[in-house]
Amino acid sequence: TTVEWEAESYDMGGHDTYMHKEIHEQVDAVDRVLRGRIDDRFSTVRLGGLNLDAREARGVRRVKILGCGSAYHTGLIGAQLIEELARIPADAEPASEFRYRNPVVDPDTLYIAVSQSGETYDTLAAVQELKRKGARVLGVVNVVGSAIARETDGGVYVHAGPEVCVVSTKCFTNTAVAFALLALHLGRIRDLSVADGKRIIAGLRKLPEQIAEVLSGEEEIKELAAEYANAKSMMFVGRVRGYPVAREASLKLKEVSYVHAEAYPASELKHGPLALIEPEVPTVAVLPDDDLLEKNRATLEEIKARSGRILAVAHREQEKADHTIVVPRNEVELDPILMGIPLQLLAYHTALALGRDIDKPRNLAKSVTVE
Ligand code: G6P
Repeated sequence: TTVEWEAESYDMGGHDTYMHKEIHEQVDAVDRVLRGRIDDRFSTVRLGGLNLDAREARGVRRVKILGCGSAYHTGLIGAQLIEELARIPADAEPASEFRYRNPVVDPDTLYIAVSQSGETYDTLAAVQELKRKGARVLGVVNVVGSAIARETDGGVYVHAGPEVCVVSTKCFTNTAVAFALLALHLGRIRDLSVADGKRIIAGLRKLPEQIAEVLSGEEEIKELAAEYANAKSMMFVGRVRGYPVAREASLKLKEVSYVHAEAYPASELKHGPLALIEPEVPTVAVLPDDDLLEKNRATLEEIKARSGRILAVAHREQEKADHTIVVPRNEVELDPILMGIPLQLLAYHTALALGRDIDKPRNLAKSVTVE
């Protein structure tokens, strides 16, 4: 299905910024990326533009995802989803690094370029280099008919609608959902069971109402933002599923509020960054309710022992944290998608508290179409 952007207005619809509007549009946006794609009969999804038949999909030995900025971070989530659901080794890399390092291009690898605008030069250049070397490249793109959409062999449109604010919110979430669809599709062609397919589909269908639930907690997040806005620096940590969420939340905060932030895998804290922890450097910890929760709780203790303040994002109240933002539980594979949303609000309200130019942060452009 194609969605006409004209149907959506560019006015602010009563919001003070596009960022705020776009955060709140996520309920409908996610509904749109799912629309017409779920195939209950075979507990899978149908992706009309993929241009990859079942035999070709089975031949894929490896997946490499390329993008820049937030698009790269959705690639990190996408790679995890593809590994988990389809059991194909997958990873993500900044497109800009990839294109300059004379990568080994392997015929059994499926390359995926991710881009909101479809015009980011580094990502486009990576696609062109791959095509020149005979690779198969798919696109996960928001803007229909954009350069990357045209140059790839096929792909998945993200259908987030126009995103005006420089920092990505609804497009980030929709791209992550698009990757979940692709991972489910590849998984069901391989070894993902009907029962697991059904479970993921049910989880996907729950996302819009759960996003609405997260957004209804905005007042609380606004208060937290006021409390943390004067931090010298912020640390973001997560393990495995929580890590890309921490990466993106850290980028979002930097871009829009200019507060310095770092993101680390929680397990890497003890190998260096723990030296930074002090009361003026709070930590945002992303703690999905998976088999790593106990390990993550131990990390919170390590931070507390160094008198660090902790804001947790979790599915239930965390004792060791100073504050917990409670996010509804979905399926473990899909939880990262929901856990990013309160942290968009945290970045937004921090920027608002600091009086920043939210829709057009200094030094940044919505899409970087030059080298
Ligand atoms: C710019 C923007 C980022 C964005 C990145 C990739 O650097 O400031 O917010 O994530 O480009 O953009 P794309 O359109 O390729 O997703």
